[in-house]
Amino acid sequence: MFLKLCAFLFIQKILTVFVAVPGRPVDFESSIVLGTNYTDYTDCVKECLNITTCSAIYYNSSNLTCIRYDYGDLFSVLQVQDFPVIEIFSFKTNSTTCSKLPDTIYYSNHYSYINTGTYWEIEGRCPKDWKEFNRTMGHWCMKLYSNGAKNLETANDFCGTVAENATISGIGSQEELNYVYNESWETKNGKQVSIGVDGRLMDNCTESFKTRTDCGFPESYTFYDKYLTDYSYYKWGGENPDAIGGNGLYQQCIVCYSTNSEQTFNTFDDVVCSSQSTYYPCGRLARDL
Ligand SMILES: *[C@@H]1O[C@H](CO)[C@@H](O)[C@H](O)[C@H]1NC(C)=O
Ligand SMILES: *[C@@H]1O[C@H](CO)[C@@H](O)[C@H](O)[C@H]1NC(C)=O
Ligand SMILES: *[C@@H]1O[C@H](CO)[C@@H](O)[C@H](O)[C@H]1NC(C)=O
Ligand SMILES: *[C@@H]1O[C@H](CO)[C@@H](O)[C@H](O)[C@H]1NC(C)=O
Ligand SMILES: *[C@@H]1O[C@H](CO)[C@@H](O)[C@H](O)[C@H]1NC(C)=O
Ligand SMILES: *[C@@H]1O[C@H](CO)[C@@H](O)[C@H](O)[C@H]1NC(C)=O
Ligand SMILES: *[C@@H]1O[C@H](CO)[C@@H](O)[C@H](O)[C@H]1NC(C)=O
Ligand SMILES: *[C@@H]1O[C@H](CO)[C@@H](O)[C@H](O)[C@H]1NC(C)=O
Ligand SMILES: *[C@@H]1O[C@H](CO)[C@@H](O)[C@H](O)[C@H]1NC(C)=O
Repeated sequence: MFLKLCAFLFIQKILTVFVAVPGRPVDFESSIVLGTNYTDYTDCVKECLNITTCSAIYYNSSNLTCIRYDYGDLFSVLQVQDFPVIEIFSFKTNSTTCSKLPDTIYYSNHYSYINTGTYWEIEGRCPKDWKEFNRTMGHWCMKLYSNGAKNLETANDFCGTVAENATISGIGSQEELNYVYNESWETKNGKQVSIGVDGRLMDNCTESFKTRTDCGFPESYTFYDKYLTDYSYYKWGGENPDAIGGNGLYQQCIVCYSTNSEQTFNTFDDVVCSSQSTYYPCGRLARDL
């Protein structure tokens, strides 16, 4: 077995270029075992060549197994260090240069293979420029917008216009929280801004919210984002949520304030639903391609 750390195969036309790297798929939804009889890995790569849905192959030279992955089925490939190379990951790309630097991105159809130094992360199930997060109920795409100040309803309406099935997003993990904090903090050059996030206290829990044992977060809240399972990243500040009211209005909506110290500050607060936030995250499930 001979393979350089990155090699080109079948440079024929755009998108039938294959890059071959030492690697092993570690996160995928499905795969197709093509055979356990491939003595030459280029025969395995050829199996992918004419099949438009095929995005990549994986070849294990110890047992001559050839496995095919189609677009949308593969999310992450571990870069293996063994030499001589035993495991080969080979994928279609339009690129004609070979580089193994971290941050290298190869494009293939609407997908990008991003070199993190340890993995090849495959992105493409989210709209362009949206970030993909791993939630219990599926991969979640999110983008922080600041297209004019909006309240919960108008932000949610806006989200529905920028991507199919998108809603205003909740915050479901530390990664998602870091993302919204960081994006808003950086773009505002360190000025604190409010970020409107999903969640609305039901009307029947506004009065005496604090003292009623049958009202609380998140059980008395409604969400547009139907894919939240962990609400512990709504890191409330002080005694919030308190639903405090005035002029017949109660604090039923939720904001958090951007910070560059996301690990330590609890910046979630409840506000009246007419109040507008500069930033708000849109989200939707990753496309099942
Ligand atoms: C391996 O075997 C399968 C059938 O089991 C066959 O279709 C394929 O052509 C064989 N591949 C090689 C490289 O011999
Ligand atoms: C793939 O396509 C090329 C050109 O269209 C053709 O010559 C070749 O026989 C095809 N290979 C397979 C395995 O179908
Ligand atoms: C051969 O390698 C493939 C891919 O690494 C693996 O899934 C499979 O279990 C191996 N088969 C045997 C018999 O070890
Ligand atoms: C590759 O094949 C060998 C031989 O069957 C097997 O021991 C090894 O586990 C396989 N590698 C992976 C990552 O499955
Ligand atoms: C490959 O595709 C990407 C994304 O479509 C594009 O930005 C890039 O210029 C293409 N590269 C080549 C060499 O065609
Ligand atoms: C997503 O989460 C599941 C379950 O926690 C895990 O098995 C999988 O490796 C994760 N995928 C990524 C890309 O982080
Ligand atoms: C924070 O945002 C900046 C600019 O958008 C980006 O370069 C940086 O990688 C981000 N950091 C984290 C931890 O996400
Ligand atoms: C408030 O209304 C919802 C449904 O509209 C109901 O499920 C919930 O139990 C009610 N909560 C209280 C405290 O009455
Ligand atoms: C939007 O939702 C519909 C209905 O659930 C579904 O068929 C469609 O695939 C979704 N689109 C995306 C991009 O997730």
